[in-house]
Amino acid sequence: MPKKFTKATQLVHGGTRRSQYGEVSEAMFLTQGFVYATAEEAEQRFIKSGDDEFIYARYGNPTVRMFEDRLSQYLGYEDGFACASGMAAVNGALTALLKAGDKVVASRALFGSCLYVLEDILGRFGVGITLVDGTDNAAWDAAISDDTTLVFLESISNPTLEVIDLRHVCDTAHKHGALVLVDDAMATPVFSYAHACGADLAIISTTKHVDGQGRMLGGLICGSKELIRGPIETYIKHTGGAMSPFTAWTHLKALETMELRVRAQAAAAHKICETLQGHAKLTAAVYPTHKAHPQYSVAKSQSEAGGTVLTIEVKGGQAACFKFLNALEVATISNNFADAKTIATHPATTTHQRLPQEQKDMLGITDGLVRFSVGLESVDDIIADIKQALDAV
Ligand SMILES: Cc1ncc(COP(=O)(O)O)c(C=O)c1O
Repeated sequence: MPKKFTKATQLVHGGTRRSQYGEVSEAMFLTQGFVYATAEEAEQRFIKSGDDEFIYARYGNPTVRMFEDRLSQYLGYEDGFACASGMAAVNGALTALLKAGDKVVASRALFGSCLYVLEDILGRFGVGITLVDGTDNAAWDAAISDDTTLVFLESISNPTLEVIDLRHVCDTAHKHGALVLVDDAMATPVFSYAHACGADLAIISTTKHVDGQGRMLGGLICGSKELIRGPIETYIKHTGGAMSPFTAWTHLKALETMELRVRAQAAAAHKICETLQGHAKLTAAVYPTHKAHPQYSVAKSQSEAGGTVLTIEVKGGQAACFKFLNALEVATISNNFADAKTIATHPATTTHQRLPQEQKDMLGITDGLVRFSVGLESVDDIIADIKQALDAV
């Protein structure tokens, strides 16, 4: 069984399982199946597998299990189930836990694919969805009742960086017997406060800060052993959303450097936000734990830093914004975030293009909004790049 370590050490050693060869670097068990010494042993394992016994990689695999143990315990949770992507994790957790007639209360500022799973898929199967302004505690209080089965939210919303008072939402949900499931993609595992604030389940898109270098897709659902090895494992192992052992192996190696990377990126994001305050070509530069953020005090009370993404709003609408984006030389135009390479995204025409205009207006996804995912380049180079691109507008 894995030992308890301090957080930084947990990322390097947590969950390690060594083979009989005593390898230093984690082994990659790139196998679908496992051999049994006897027919009786096979029968026994199908009746009940022990913690270090596996049947088939869709159910579990030693490399994947190392990753699940290492990251879920780092986040404060008892257990985790690793999935093929962040969305496989979101869909798997929600579908495993909900049934027809259940009621979900969710923040309205949700990533498009999460909204699709909630409204289009779960809605089709008779789950009721109520969306609220996640920044408004009174709206949560009014919407959550004894009928609520589950509360779903992004701790920091993508792309507008809304911050939710998570402790308040968890307390309200628990008073009514509802589970809280947090999508923690933007908060980052390093600055996650889902467990500390009382969230029953946290979902990490490991595609983002765990991989951190724009290579692998993955996701992790964290929670109590009862939920993870109960309904969640049962649903995902039968429906095929498990993580591949190769992804788990690259993630294990990436976890070793995650704190170093994410802390550096978060400090750079804060510095860029500070430098851009009051810039003549911008209406706003926002980062969750920078004092210019509308929910600064809530953000600060929950976490040391607000992730690795900031937003800026360029004056002059889409034409000016496109001029700015096209003039960038260090930052690349793309739609992912949490890469080692700085990425600039124009949500209104890419990631959130399909939202109706009134929904974009309600969420603050304006034509001038740029989401900046800060990478590991020199922060001075990134700042100089943004300034020269703004000069071109
Ligand atoms: C908030 C949020 N949740 C979930 C996801 C899905 O993650 P993945 O791309 O790993 O499926 C994303 C991806 O951008 C996201 O931003």
